[in-house]
Order: sequence, then structure tokens, then C-alpha cells
Amino acid sequence: MCGIVGAVAERPIVEILIEGLRRLEYRGYDSAGVVVLDQQGNTSCIKREGKVEVLAKAVKEQSPQGTTGIAHTRWATHGVPSERNAHPHQSGNRFSVVHNGIIENHEELRKSLSADGYTFNSDTDTEVIVHLIHKLSAVCPDLRSAVFAATQQLVGAYGMAVVDSQSPGQLVVARSGSPLVIGYGLGEHFVASDQLALLPVTRRFAVLEEGDVARLTKESVSITDASGEPVSRPIKESDITADAGGKAGYKHYMLKEIFEQPEAIRRTLQGRIVDGKVAEDAFGHGSVELFKTIKHVQIVACGTSYNAGMVARYWIEQYVGISCSVEIASEFRYRKSFVHKDSLLVTLSQSGETADTLAALRLAKSLGYSASLTICNVETSSLVRESDLVYLMKAGPEIGVASTKAFTVQLAALLLLSKALCEAKSINQYFCEEAAQALNALPGHMEQAFSLEHSIKALSEQFADKKHALFLGRGDQYPVAMEGALKLKEISYIHAEAYAAGELKHGPLALVDADMPVVVVAPNNELLDKLKSNIEEVRARGSVMYVFADSDDHFESEPGLDVVNMAHANHLIAPILFSIPLQFLSYYVALVKGTDVDQPRNLAKSVTVE
Ligand code: G6P
Repeated sequence: MCGIVGAVAERPIVEILIEGLRRLEYRGYDSAGVVVLDQQGNTSCIKREGKVEVLAKAVKEQSPQGTTGIAHTRWATHGVPSERNAHPHQSGNRFSVVHNGIIENHEELRKSLSADGYTFNSDTDTEVIVHLIHKLSAVCPDLRSAVFAATQQLVGAYGMAVVDSQSPGQLVVARSGSPLVIGYGLGEHFVASDQLALLPVTRRFAVLEEGDVARLTKESVSITDASGEPVSRPIKESDITADAGGKAGYKHYMLKEIFEQPEAIRRTLQGRIVDGKVAEDAFGHGSVELFKTIKHVQIVACGTSYNAGMVARYWIEQYVGISCSVEIASEFRYRKSFVHKDSLLVTLSQSGETADTLAALRLAKSLGYSASLTICNVETSSLVRESDLVYLMKAGPEIGVASTKAFTVQLAALLLLSKALCEAKSINQYFCEEAAQALNALPGHMEQAFSLEHSIKALSEQFADKKHALFLGRGDQYPVAMEGALKLKEISYIHAEAYAAGELKHGPLALVDADMPVVVVAPNNELLDKLKSNIEEVRARGSVMYVFADSDDHFESEPGLDVVNMAHANHLIAPILFSIPLQFLSYYVALVKGTDVDQPRNLAKSVTVE
């Protein structure tokens, strides 16, 4: 989704802004722009549709000079992707604004600002902000108060950065619903929607809270809270290295992130299993006492994180013996749901900023849940800051839009959560011991699964001309099939659907023919024989099948049936391990099709608008 970078310094900052935008490219965007001001307030604005490199080229040609500036990558919500709709938006040759989020009352504001004589040059909701600030500047003593006054009239979500050519040498930024961090340098200050953008220039960050407005000059940063009172926000040193966003020699971030999975799991479990038991504070202070009382788990998430939650439902109900529901956050937040007694709300999120998941958490706080737990990959995120309990994943930055390592790390954390619930309740010791052993062995098994890369690469050629694909699984492998289908559609644009294999004859079987590859996830478990019957039903209809099987499943490749054998591992970690060949499959199909693997069309990494 949209990205913001801003800087105020002694030195020229345009290159810092462009590099910041490059580092935000992974979030997904369709146009980009920059405004820089020199010390006299002379302002240059350059915007382009398309990639940051197109903007960078234009910037190089025009070489604008400036020591203060703001820049943006836009992911269209209101108004098509175009240069005219790209940010920054400007008012009266004086104010410039970049904005993430959606202003819900933009139509009403547009009408009243137009009646006041402001001319609109774009179709965006954002443009109302800049004209509103312009209008309010006539009655406000300075830029900060004009921005604060404007925020009082905005309904919706925003992270914004504003400059005024009549007061160069300062940036005013405001946050409500869309994250912003302030970066502290020596004699220079920065702002960004994601600290990754600023790692080449600083490692010291403060996260703005909801309703904060901050004024940045090169010498100082002053912050006021939602009521306009001065506040200070803690400055923390980031432990992410500046090159964490690099591809480390891989062709794509996605491939790099697939191979990072064993290490990400090791880091995520480190110190959290002690002598075979879940460490006391692994899920946050007081979690053990709380878990003793929990009788229901409600999981809420979006996208890949939702699929991880679906796997956890099988584990929690089977091993902990309590009920577990899983719901897509955008549905949960808009319906009246039943809250079970002694219920734990669990949000799953790689980014911790997904708008619907965050809204679901905020809603749940008023609904009577015993507590909220988030399993999240970003320490500074809103979900982490607003949840009662936190299990921080240590997957490292995930840049590829198609989530890979975050999914498997979430699954490992959810298996650990099932174990922690059992331990707190002093039940199912057999499962607790088995889970500890299986999790410890997991990174090694993942490394073994990487040996399948080349055979899957060869298979992927056969998908190149296909328009549709079906993924089948049973039990805890059904959500793995869902995730496999999601990956394929996200990055190769092949329409893919997942079905619980038993549901096949209730509809999807009608679609099966030689042009519809069917992918089956088939570990050796108690449902294997049932799955084998489903496979026969499909084969009898002339389909081409790809079966990812355990080596002891006794499947043989033959015409119309390609078998990829996985080394056998404990059934508890099978959903995690079987995800790997499906990740390779989607990656190599996308490669064959020549799509943009890391930044698939229309998608964003962090979905901060609903
Ligand atoms: C977007 C991303 C997906 C991700 C989903 C939820 O759609 O492209 O990869 O699974 O958001 O994101 P979250 O950060 O909450 O896990």
C-alpha cells in the first residue's frame, strides 16, 4: 500500500527520499512523487505513474535541489493510477501533502472547499487535506496548528506529511489509523510509514501514536497528542540491519524468503521452549494464568494469516479440546458475533497494520473477551502495541507481497500456542512432548524439503498455459491447500481454488478436465485412504494431477499423475512442511509466466485501508 518518506536536513535530501521510496516498493503501488524545498522555500514537485525508477529518472534529469521534502508511493483507492492522482498534492503553490489512508468524508469536504474557491486537480480523497490545511492556515498561527485543526475535520484514516513553502525547514506529520515513524539523525530528522525506508540514514525511531501531530526541523522534533498536549514518544534503536531489505543474491525476495524459513523458525522458537516446556512468558506476562481459564479461542486475520488460523483450529480443537473459531477480519468487524465465555481473541498478522484486523481487535475490546493476543512479525506495529498479549514472530522483514516465511512461522507459533494452552491446563502431556520434539526438528525437515526445488521447477512448466487450477486437501491440510491456491493466484494470475477433498463431488468435479490441473496435498495420515478415493474420482475424469505425498504413501507417478515425495516427518508439522513445495510451485509457475513475482499487479504487502 501507499508509502511515505520525509526528511528535513542540512544536506540535500532528494536522494534519501528516492532511496526511501525504493525501499517501500515492496508494499505495492502504482505511481510515485516527490516534493523538495530549498532553504528559501523554492519548491519542486515531480510525479510519475509507474515504478519508482521512472520517477528517479525524472528526478535525475531535473535535479531539484532541496533540504526539506516529502515523497510517496501511491496505491490507488480514489481515482485511477495516473500522474494527476499521484501524491504530493498541492494547494496554492504553497502547501504540499502526502497521505496514506482514506478520508471518508472527502466528498462533503470537497464540496465545501470548492464553494470556497479551491480548485481540485485530482480525483483523490487526499486533495481535500491540502486545501483544508491551506484554508485553515489563514486562521492558525503556524503550520502545526493548521494541520492539527484540519485533522479535527477529517473522518477516516491518515498518515500524512505536510510542507509549506512559506515556512521551509520544517515538516509537519500526523497519524490516525496509518502508521508513521519518526527517524532521528544527527542534525536531521525523518519520517516514514515503515522504518525500513529510513534504515540507510538512521536506526533510531519513535513510533507516533493515534492522533499525534509532530513538527520536525533539522534540530528538533516536537510531538503533540490527540488533545494537542505536548508528549514524548520513546526512541528505540532498531535491530533490523540496513541490508535486511536486500535480495542477498536471490533473483526475487520471495525465493530468498522461502529459503529463510528454517532460520526464521529457529529464531522464533529460540528461548521459547525450555526443557521441553513453553517458556513462562513466551505469550506475554500473565499468559499462563490466563490460559488456564480459556475455554474458547477466536482467531481473526486476513489473507495468508487467515489460512494459518484455519490450520490452528484443527490443532486447538483436537489437542487442547476447546472450541476455536476463525474468521476473516473484514467480516468479523461488521457483524454481531457471539462471544463465548472465557474466550481469547487471537489476531494473526505479518505486518501488524492490516486495517481490518486492527479494527477487529479494537472492536473486540468492547465485546467481553478475556484478553487479546497477537501473533505478529512487527514489534512496533499497532497490533502489538494495542494487544494485551504478544507473541512476536522473528521472521525478519518480509518483502515479497506473497507471504511465505510469515505463514510457516505463524504456524509454528500457533502449534506452540496449542502446547502452551495444554500445559497451562495440565492436559495432553503426550501432545506437549510430541509438539516440542516436532518443533525442534522442524528447521531440519524444512531444509530437506528444499531439495524438491528442482523437480517442482520442472513441473511448473506444465502450468504455464493453464487458466485454472484446483487444490485439494483434507483435515489440517485443507487450509494448506487454501494457502497453495492463494499463492498461485496472487503471483501467477492463474485462477486457483482450494476445496476440502470430500467436497469435490458437490460441485468442483464438474470443472475437471485435462485443462484443469489438480494439486493434492497428501501426507500419510488417518485421512489418506479417503483422499486416495477422491484422487481416483478426479483421475477418472481425465484430469492431470500433481500429488505432494509422503514417501511412505505408496503413490507412483504415471501418465496424468505426477507425484512429488516429501521425506516423512511428524504429522504435527506436516502442514508447515507441505507448504514449502506449494510455495516453490507458485514461484516457478510465476517465473515461467513472466509475472512480477515480488510485486504482483493490484496487490499490496501491507493493507492499511479497508
Ligand atoms: C495482504 C498481503 C498478504 C497478507 C495479508 C494480511 O493481502 O498481500 O500476503 O497475508 O495482507 O496481512 P497481515 O500483515 O495482516 O498478515
